[in-house]
Amino acid sequence: MAIGHDKIEKNIGLMIILIIITISIGGLVQIVPLFFQTSTTEAVAGLEPYSPLRLAGRDVYVREGCYLCHSQMIRPFRAETERYGHYSVAGEYVYDRPFQWGSKRTGPDLARVGERYSDEWHRVHLINPRDVVPESIMPGYPWLEENAADAGTIQRKLEVLRLLGAPYSDEDIANAPQALEGKTEMDAMIAYLQGMGTTIKTRR
Ligand code: HEC
Repeated sequence: MAIGHDKIEKNIGLMIILIIITISIGGLVQIVPLFFQTSTTEAVAGLEPYSPLRLAGRDVYVREGCYLCHSQMIRPFRAETERYGHYSVAGEYVYDRPFQWGSKRTGPDLARVGERYSDEWHRVHLINPRDVVPESIMPGYPWLEENAADAGTIQRKLEVLRLLGAPYSDEDIANAPQALEGKTEMDAMIAYLQGMGTTIKTRR
């Protein structure tokens, strides 16, 4: 009917090119607006960027590979929300660079572990998990208690995160090393864990 239609149908190379063009237009229409739409990347109400101590703890979490056994992402299923609390939402992760979603759950999800246990419970658990959970297969991390939190690089870390959009003030950055004074990696890790997922209040 249309001029050239039979040419397209009989020329597979031409057809492939035209199919690619058509699909690309459809893809662009769906994907490009996401780059300009803020709602998918907006912080949930009340979410604060990581304090220096929590940020230091987060870096220890990454260094020790906790993400190899723990996810930080509660999926929107009944079985998950009954156990862990409200499912995770995108706006909770805007200051997580890189995010620690993980894909392996040898241990429980930690996305909302904040405020569920006391600091002392975490301290004992991280030194030797079997002291509080006899059947635990989680390794102990006793050296966290001995290592000082890394105050030397904390300012640079905040600066880089600010460059990427975290709202730290000059004052926050200037005072960051002070916040780590006298703190161990254990203090930093516990501060990090206790803040996890607490912006959205759950019934737990
Ligand atoms: C080899 C896998 C493994 C690694 C690595 C691991 N864990 Fe665990 N973790 C577990 C298991 C299994 C449990 C459940 C038993 C228990 O509570 O000890 C657990 C439990 C926990 C809990 C209690 C969660 C809850 O809701 O009861 C916290 C907090 C925790 N881990 C933090 C960490 C941190 C921080 C690290 C890194 C320093 C880490 N884990 C590394 C396996 C692991």
